[in-house]
Amino acid sequence: MESEARPEGDGAAATPGRQRPSGDRVALRGDMRAALPDVAAAAVVTALVFVFLRARMASGESDTVAVMPFMDDPGTYWMYLLSQAFGWSGLLWAWGTVMIGLLLSGAHSTRLPVSRQVLERWHRTTSLTTTALMFAHALMFAAELVRYETKVSWAERLWVGFADTFVPGWYDSGTGRIAIPLGQGALYLAIPLGLLFYVRHRIGANAWRRLHRFVIVVYVLSVWHTLLYGTNVWYGDWPRTVLWLLQLPVACLLLLRLLRPARRAEQLGSPGGRRGATAGWWVRAAGRAAAGAVIVGLVVVVASDRDGGRDRPAHPPATVPHAQETE
Ligand code: HEM
Repeated sequence: MESEARPEGDGAAATPGRQRPSGDRVALRGDMRAALPDVAAAAVVTALVFVFLRARMASGESDTVAVMPFMDDPGTYWMYLLSQAFGWSGLLWAWGTVMIGLLLSGAHSTRLPVSRQVLERWHRTTSLTTTALMFAHALMFAAELVRYETKVSWAERLWVGFADTFVPGWYDSGTGRIAIPLGQGALYLAIPLGLLFYVRHRIGANAWRRLHRFVIVVYVLSVWHTLLYGTNVWYGDWPRTVLWLLQLPVACLLLLRLLRPARRAEQLGSPGGRRGATAGWWVRAAGRAAAGAVIVGLVVVVASDRDGGRDRPAHPPATVPHAQETE
């Protein structure tokens, strides 16, 4: 998830006396190496979340178990817990990289305490880490499905794990019919939209910039998927409220970025002029109005505590797999 406003020519630091890599491209391999500290930090966060979720499951306080009582065994369901932990670190990193991207593409980016170059590097490395965490989340879910399906052959188990996790429309269970494709959509869009940066010299900087804008869709799909399917935010309790609250700074930065874009061409200006220019004006104006409406919506949701989260049942049923979720 790269910055839209990345000026051409500020990529990999050029070594004096040596020619820059052709097309001024920043090598993917170099960024992957630079992402290693970031990956290490993400691994620590994932481990902490895993320990937290495991402790809650062991103590009988887990909301996941409240939704699916058969999971009352952290020793058996550790892969599921690890999948959840990767989901949370992935979402946190997605939040961070989107925030950095929005800071970079707004006009106020020059007034930040950290240099633009450093921010751009963070944006590239956190973006790569986010995609890896999203993939790890899905992979651990697949691994849990393979482990769970003991009554069929290994080939079938592997197929079920793969298809339920990675084939859109295959997973056939309750809310998952919508929530899983949303997660898949986020993952499958994140990969090309993030990696296109490394071939922007081939597709053209303008095409790359236009496509990269859609990275916000990846983030929206990720949050939507979590709110719809995360059992730890299943009920209308504080974790769900915090998740909503975290979206406020993103929406505010998005609005600021639209109102005061770094690129002159994206400023609103006046609606008159050529037909194409007038249509563009309306699209840009609608974008600003939508971002404002999202902020109002977020405030209303957080203040009213009504956001579609389920009410915690007084007596959870004895066994309720995801396939028969309590609505
Ligand atoms: C192939 C794509 C994906 C699949 C198959 C998938 C699967 C799942 C499943 C089954 C759950 C429910 C776990 C529970 O009981 O709480 C879940 C929750 C979650 N997913 Fe995904 N997901 C995918 C993509 C994503 C992406 C791209 C993100 C973004 C970072 C994400 C973040 C989360 C989070 C944060 C949760 C909540 C976990 C919890 O409540 O503890 N997922 N996902």
